[in-house]
Amino acid sequence: MSQLIDLDQRYVWHPFTQAKTAGLPIPIVSAEGALLQAEDGKTYIDANSSWWVNTHGHGEEHISQAIKDQLDQLGHVIFAGVTHPKAVELASRISALLPGTLNRSFFSDDGSTAVEVALKMSLQYWFNQDQKKHRILAMDGAYHGDTFGAMSVGQRSYFNKPFEHLFFQVDYMGFPSKENEAPCLTEAEAYFKSGEFAALIVEPIVQGSAGMRMYRPQFLDQLMILARKYDVLIIFDEIMTGWGRTGRLFAMNYLQDHPDIVCLSKGLTGGVLPLGLTVASDFIYDAFWSDEKEKALLHGHSFTGNALACAAACANLDLIEDPAFFEEIERIATAHYAFVQHLKEHEAIAHIRQTGTILAIEVRQQEESSYFSGIRDVIYEHFLNDGILLRPLGNVLFVNPPYCIKDEELAQIYASTKRLLDRLLTDDRLQ
Ligand SMILES: Cc1ncc(COP(=O)(O)O)c(C=O)c1O
Repeated sequence: MSQLIDLDQRYVWHPFTQAKTAGLPIPIVSAEGALLQAEDGKTYIDANSSWWVNTHGHGEEHISQAIKDQLDQLGHVIFAGVTHPKAVELASRISALLPGTLNRSFFSDDGSTAVEVALKMSLQYWFNQDQKKHRILAMDGAYHGDTFGAMSVGQRSYFNKPFEHLFFQVDYMGFPSKENEAPCLTEAEAYFKSGEFAALIVEPIVQGSAGMRMYRPQFLDQLMILARKYDVLIIFDEIMTGWGRTGRLFAMNYLQDHPDIVCLSKGLTGGVLPLGLTVASDFIYDAFWSDEKEKALLHGHSFTGNALACAAACANLDLIEDPAFFEEIERIATAHYAFVQHLKEHEAIAHIRQTGTILAIEVRQQEESSYFSGIRDVIYEHFLNDGILLRPLGNVLFVNPPYCIKDEELAQIYASTKRLLDRLLTDDRLQ
């Protein structure tokens, strides 16, 4: 065991990990493009973009340089009563990218905090106007983060069982698979009719942690029409779907309408530094604008508006303006599509789906799909042995790589996937 692993095992507590049964962590010492370099000289393709954050690849020069330059100027400064150039540049450029009047950026640290802020904004929006709208509608299977508010609006499961008694009450509509769309709309309308709903929160068109579950933009168009009819605020959690993942810059770009509040993180800094943004429409900001101090959004974090993270995010915005950005996304989407056509009849597959750069394959198994399904470890180990870091969600394996991934690296992932599926055909767990 290397000294690094030895110390890790003594002193580190890893996320989402049962240390007793998990294997040793892979010691990664450097990374470039889509490749991670381990301490022992092995390389791994980062097939899931390091928890879906890394869009332009590791060690992207323009982002690295922007962070270094910023560090020479200003690392971090309090953001209440103070402002700084990179935060202002980021907020104004984000506003220009987003539709409607999504013009007000509130800064936080990550995806979960961006969601917390969105929930507080929407609840206080009504509170500030003396309106008794306090309920929230979320979707079955949702994942919005691991802080308490974010957990409250997420799927209740063994992930959050120990805390469930402390969550605030949230209502859930069903997941709108194609055959289930009409009942879902009826269900949502019945909730909205009560007049008590402050907000609807969704992961637009792809639910990430639920297993990259995809649903039709046309459904969301209909749902948003209902929300508008009953005066319910619409929150989009684009933390996973943002920054080109779905083939367009944001999932909202597939829709006829746009949300009132959007949460951004992950690829916001190209996946290099933690940063969350909750962007609100002007009318929401206006409901906090008052002579009464308590009508302000009394929320903040020590690292709100961190200048290094803002500089990285501005550099990300430069990169997405380059036509090469969407060319790379299109290249990956096209390759995924061809692979789906090639694989779709494979008997080890229960379901295969794709949206943009996200390819998801649900492996057929006897037990019900679950994060802890035994097949998950088989899949994970298989890819590791093939030099690919791919963390399945239970029996769902998915590929959402950095956009700089080379054709040969993608081909390597596809070939390994095919080998795995062929191997699983003879695995007892499928019989
Ligand atoms: C849709 C969505 N929302 C929120 C989060 C939480 O983000 P973070 O892990 O940065 O707190 C995630 C993380 O995977 C996510 O996929």
